[in-house]
Amino acid sequence: MDRFVVRGGRALSGAIPVGGAKNAALPIMAAALLSPATSRARGVPKLNDVETMVRLLEILGARVSRGEHEVVIDASSVNSVTAPYDLVRTMRASFYVLGPLLARFGRARVSLPGGCAWGPRPVDLHIEAMKALGARVSIEHGDVIAEAERLRGAEIVFRIPSVGATGNAMMAACLAQGTTVIENAAREPEMPALAAYLNGMGAKIEGAGTSRILIEGVASLGGGDDAIIPDRIEAGTFLVAGAITRGRVEAVGADPSHLGALMSLLREAGATVETTLRGVAVSMDRRPHAVDVATAVYPGFPTDLQAQIMALLAVSEGTGTVTETIYYDRFTHVPELQRLGADIRLEGNAASVRGVPSLFGARVMSTDIRASAGLILAALVAEGSTAISRIYHIDRGYEAIEEKLRGAGADIRRERET
Ligand code: EPZ
Repeated sequence: MDRFVVRGGRALSGAIPVGGAKNAALPIMAAALLSPATSRARGVPKLNDVETMVRLLEILGARVSRGEHEVVIDASSVNSVTAPYDLVRTMRASFYVLGPLLARFGRARVSLPGGCAWGPRPVDLHIEAMKALGARVSIEHGDVIAEAERLRGAEIVFRIPSVGATGNAMMAACLAQGTTVIENAAREPEMPALAAYLNGMGAKIEGAGTSRILIEGVASLGGGDDAIIPDRIEAGTFLVAGAITRGRVEAVGADPSHLGALMSLLREAGATVETTLRGVAVSMDRRPHAVDVATAVYPGFPTDLQAQIMALLAVSEGTGTVTETIYYDRFTHVPELQRLGADIRLEGNAASVRGVPSLFGARVMSTDIRASAGLILAALVAEGSTAISRIYHIDRGYEAIEEKLRGAGADIRRERET
């Protein structure tokens, strides 16, 4: 296994390129299953999770070829509707194949994803949506089995605006007979991105990006071909890197309209945040002020930037509170930050972070994609050297992060862990 070794204390300065959004690319790749034609996605990040989705599509029988940051999926040869446990358990987003397989083939057997680093991750909303569209769904031996001769348009009302369930429902409804309305839909930018891709395939979707999405079912779909939107979480991670190291970082390719909550929080912490011709730039010349933040569904502060902002609070002036409202126990990064000297007290789904003048390098361990990002940010300012193990987690969601950070002056290198 690899680890990162980071020597802290350098102010980052410069432009860091932002890649395509992992959480847009994954559902879009699954959407290719809706059509026997060939679909293409451009600007796809090179990530382990993308590789996992490619492997899943190939297990289902699709033929996938890759170009530079490009994926071409020939779904004419799909000959299975079974997504196996061994693969689904490694990546929850595999569950996105449920809607497309059910809609195109009338049947799907997808393993329940199981839990993740920070607790259970139910899929009840996905199942309720498929049932609303007329599918018979059962759970057998850990697999979700869904069947329907032809899906029928329906009104789907989500109890919570789940990103994954909204994506699955949208994809399934594209081929249903009649019109579907999704109420309380997720508004994350990856949803309009998925809808645009589906409309490029011939779907008829309106309202994606709002809480109410309208889908008029069509008989069949052609191949898709579109570019992936920039990754707002990767961009946000780099912007926090500029603030925490008290330097200046421009996230090139970032879409400022996707980063409103983070940009206002960084301003509140004392950073200068500007929209530039190429993206978003953050600069900081002194110790940040502590701020309070609660994660929320889009356009609120994203849970996927919670660990990163906690690293910033760890070295801020004062005490800030981080309240996690999406995943109540998403705090596996806390004990690792404490090993670096952070003063954090957990009370239920809230962390009270009392800023300290300095963090100190230590050996720490990654537990999930975004926790790893938070540890890297803390290591960039910790005095001395920090070794971060199990960075296969970070390779799932960040392409060549150490090269990108080195490009802005960070002292970070990847080592084979002996
Ligand atoms: C997506 O996961 C992202 N993953 C996650 O990013 C992100 O943290 C999450 O949205 C929230 O923004 C991808 O897009 C691949 P949800 P998803 O369904 O779709 C509950 C990363 O690091 N829920 O919006 O699984 C759930 O437990 C990853 O890139 C149900 O109760 O998230 C959670 O509390 C980590 N039943 C809340 O809804 C369901 O059927 C939001 O989950 C589905 C979800």
